Amino acid sequence: MNDIINGIHGWYFGPEVIAEANRKGQMLTMDYELGRSCPLRCIYCYRTDDSRDEQKDLLDTTIWKHVVDDARELGVQSVKLIGGGEITQEPDFREAMEYIAGKGMIVVLFTAGTVLGNDNYCRKLHKMSSRELAQWMYDLGMSVFIKVDSLNHELQDKIAGFDGFAVIRDRALELLIDVGFNKPNPTRLGLEVNVSRHNIHEIMDIYALRTKFNVYEDVVVSMPCDALQRNKDYDITYDQKRDLYRSIYAFNQEHGIPYEFISPFIGGLVCSQLGNGLYVTNRGDVFHCPGSFVHLGNVKDVSLKGIWKQFSEKEKYHGTYFCPFREDAGIFPAHLVEELRAELESHRVTAGTKVGDRTNTA
Ligand SMILES: C[S@@+](CC[C@H](N)C(=O)[O-])C[C@H]1O[C@@H](n2cnc3c(N)ncnc32)[C@H](O)[C@@H]1O
Ligand code: SF4
Repeated sequence: MNDIINGIHGWYFGPEVIAEANRKGQMLTMDYELGRSCPLRCIYCYRTDDSRDEQKDLLDTTIWKHVVDDARELGVQSVKLIGGGEITQEPDFREAMEYIAGKGMIVVLFTAGTVLGNDNYCRKLHKMSSRELAQWMYDLGMSVFIKVDSLNHELQDKIAGFDGFAVIRDRALELLIDVGFNKPNPTRLGLEVNVSRHNIHEIMDIYALRTKFNVYEDVVVSMPCDALQRNKDYDITYDQKRDLYRSIYAFNQEHGIPYEFISPFIGGLVCSQLGNGLYVTNRGDVFHCPGSFVHLGNVKDVSLKGIWKQFSEKEKYHGTYFCPFREDAGIFPAHLVEELRAELESHRVTAGTKVGDRTNTA
């Protein structure tokens, strides 16, 4: 049996776990935000100048923690900290991480590495060296995704809108590897790779790091968002998408990386967000996921528990693991999914789960 888990610690739920949560009406994962500011200006970022991005009335600490409490009571096993800016530069970063971990949930942190890769800045902010901070995060059981859109410094700086960023990112990545985030199975180190016409030529070089360093990779074409609207020539073409899927799934087959279905995380885990999670912004606004603009309520008015219970549409997505938002926006048309599915699923490499344990209705 293949024991490689195609996912990252805290963001992989096997079919049995999902089925049980669905049966009990539990939530499994929450996308959450802390703070707001970010020194970078990534071309693709849905959290800069987005219509949901008005920076006022942010959650205060008491409500922020209360949402974490509610999440735990709803059954949430991991909190994915996906924004609202660069989370590690928030003064209360450590307090917030400890709070989530103290409730028995795994923190999956998304970072550009601007603090971890800058020792002086880290000491100033957190009164510890960046190595100490990385070790502290490791000891707290966290998983970390770090931004790798390009291995070419000039290109990475251009995509991130910040001169000198790639050097800092590389230092942060080296540190995370040094501390051992990539040692366990499933790994606790992920690379976040946003695919565009700028970096399509090097995606396979970045993907090769999966087996070289035992990292998980979140290789994605952009979600629908205002940034994409502003940069209409950002996305790759239909043919490039098909070729990229073919290359990545061929890599998985060659290296025994199990996969299930044609995932929006190319070559990666199936997205279980829609049947099992919600996204709560730094202002308390609740959406189904970052790809959705349908406002489900605000935790200042209704508790997270109340919103989850009222939101019956989630049940429609039990057993759906593709991305309707990318599909509706034409970023991932259904016929491309069908074409790839027919071609690739017959060669699928599976993990401990039997083929057919999940039903993809997308
Ligand atoms: C909003 S950022 C905040 C955390 C941190 N500053 C970072 O960049 O990792 C969280 C994650 O969202 C991803 N992201 C931002 N805009 C996106 C988009 N339009 N489509 C897909 N992913 C996006 C980023 O690559 C990052 O991994
Ligand atoms: S570093 Fe993160 S929050 Fe900042 S602009 Fe880039 S994707 Fe957005």
